[in-house]
Amino acid sequence: MNPKQLAALKAVEYIREDMIVGLGTGTTAFYAIEKIGEMVQGGLRIRTVSSSLASAKQAVAAGIPQAGMTEIKGIDIYIDGADEVDERFNLVKGGGGALTREKILAFNSELFIVIIDDSKLSSTLGRFPIAVEMVPFGYNLAIPHLEALGCKTIVRQSGDNFYKTDNGNWIIDCQFQNITDPKALEEAIHAIPGVVECGLFSNSWVDRVISGNEDGTVRELKGNLS
Ligand code: 5RP
Repeated sequence: MNPKQLAALKAVEYIREDMIVGLGTGTTAFYAIEKIGEMVQGGLRIRTVSSSLASAKQAVAAGIPQAGMTEIKGIDIYIDGADEVDERFNLVKGGGGALTREKILAFNSELFIVIIDDSKLSSTLGRFPIAVEMVPFGYNLAIPHLEALGCKTIVRQSGDNFYKTDNGNWIIDCQFQNITDPKALEEAIHAIPGVVECGLFSNSWVDRVISGNEDGTVRELKGNLS
């Protein structure tokens, strides 16, 4: 079993009957959704909300019941991957472009479980670019303001076009060097008009971090699952 799958299978053990479950996006979350599908086929009664159209599609194909966002009051458990995790458990997310919906689910979840493999661990964030979701109007004017914060920018492409998020927006990927104060950087990015969200997730939202390793072990780095 690969490290991402190990982490995903550990995390889904904490899903209980009748929960509202948030489904993440990406190659690690894929394994969680796959397993949740098997659990539902085995009789588990849950409803889910998805952080992306891609994950919703996987869930529907697996026969996993969906809840409309307006039907729910909150999320019991949200399981999702991350691109980078620092030693204080701040996260970079958004490599898959779903950061805004992911942030809504994370903020509104009782239990946010992050599933990674050990290659995602860094002492300080800065290896992986920070995805900034922008409304298309005037996105170009935001670029010098982002660069003034100390990054190099690139507008995310999909083939010959700009990559379009599920919300109809563009993404500017911002490569910083060493992010010593993620909270301050997040606030500075949010102060630029046209920014919808950015891929920095504060450690205060993160309840658990489960990480798989190539050697077949899986560790719980934050929290105490019981
Ligand atoms: C998508 C995300 C993903 O969770 C993140 O990119 C990790 O992806 P993967 O599990 O494929 O490495 O934030 O927007």
